[in-house]
Amino acid sequence: MTKAKVIGLGHYVPERVVTNFDLEKVMDTSDSWIRERTGIAERRYFDPEKDTVANMAAKASRDAAEQAGIDISEIEFIVFATITPDYFFPGSGVLLQRELGLEGIGALDIRNACSGFIYALSIAEQYIKANTYRTVLVIGAEIQSSALEMNDRGRGVSVIFADGAGAAIVQAEDNEQIEGILSTHLHADGRFAEELYVKDPGSSRKHRLTKEMIDEVGIRAHMNGNMVFKHAVVKFQEVINEALEANNLEIGDIDLLIPHQANLRISQFVQKQLGLGDDQVFNNIMRYGNTTAASIPIAMSEAWQKAVLKPGDLLCIAAFGSGFTWASSLIKF
Ligand code: UT7
Repeated sequence: MTKAKVIGLGHYVPERVVTNFDLEKVMDTSDSWIRERTGIAERRYFDPEKDTVANMAAKASRDAAEQAGIDISEIEFIVFATITPDYFFPGSGVLLQRELGLEGIGALDIRNACSGFIYALSIAEQYIKANTYRTVLVIGAEIQSSALEMNDRGRGVSVIFADGAGAAIVQAEDNEQIEGILSTHLHADGRFAEELYVKDPGSSRKHRLTKEMIDEVGIRAHMNGNMVFKHAVVKFQEVINEALEANNLEIGDIDLLIPHQANLRISQFVQKQLGLGDDQVFNNIMRYGNTTAASIPIAMSEAWQKAVLKPGDLLCIAAFGSGFTWASSLIKF
């Protein structure tokens, strides 16, 4: 049976570094509050003159293709996870396709927020296992900073989110000995949709966008942080165990866990619950904040560059976020 193997990883983060001290200047917050509650010290914000979701994704894609040792023209299909597309429509998938000069190939947009990258990866995995495509580009990319409310009202959300892009190239592998992506596991519970969401502009109201929506923060992310946190710590553990059980593996078989970088406290809680050591969990939220769909592929790419993730390793990735959605995958490198 054809396997789906991750053969290249890449990432791009904007140059502009925004520290907690920079945020202190525009809202009632403090470096110590942000560090204690989230682990974040600094994050990256895009440059409107230079960066778009699609061109950040293109930079990450080229990085991944170079690392994989393939030519961009070998890519047959794009799966693009973002909740912050450059346009209301079409999605950023077609913009990335244009940017990479891959006219004609399919480009699919995924909007499952923090779980978006794993949802996207599952699609690549299935297309490859079904022998539909042999080389698929999977992206997680976001520009959150342009929607953040940089004042006291928005501080609960604004100090967390940030910008960046990550890419993975997934390729068909016919060698029986190579395992590649072992499995992906996807979940959702729409009963909690309004616990973390951006309400406006939405199609189901008389006027899609009004001045009131802007004034009453409908266009900003609303997050019930405590509730998200409580569900996250339970679902992370559940979905990681589900992946292990599906493959007859135990937690000790994992070389590395890369959780979605939502909050360092969530990652540390999950690490403790699972009994993993510090060298078995990779976090970079301290430097990049929460980049939603981009956080896992950025972390995977960095872990690979730093040789924290190595050839032969069994990696577990897991995510939880808006929807609620949650997901996991086990990948052999
Ligand atoms: O990636 C998508 C999924 N998202 C998540 O997984 C996020 C999950 N939730 C969280 O990470 C945490 O809930 C937060 C980091 C968002 C908030 O931390 P918390 O420990 O749950 O704080 P809180 O919301 O309970 O607020 C505690 C206090 C409040 O003040 P009072 O009512 O105790 O006086 C807030 O008003 O902290 C205040 N506060 C702040 N203070 C300084 C809220 N935001 C800030 C801020 N700076 N930025």
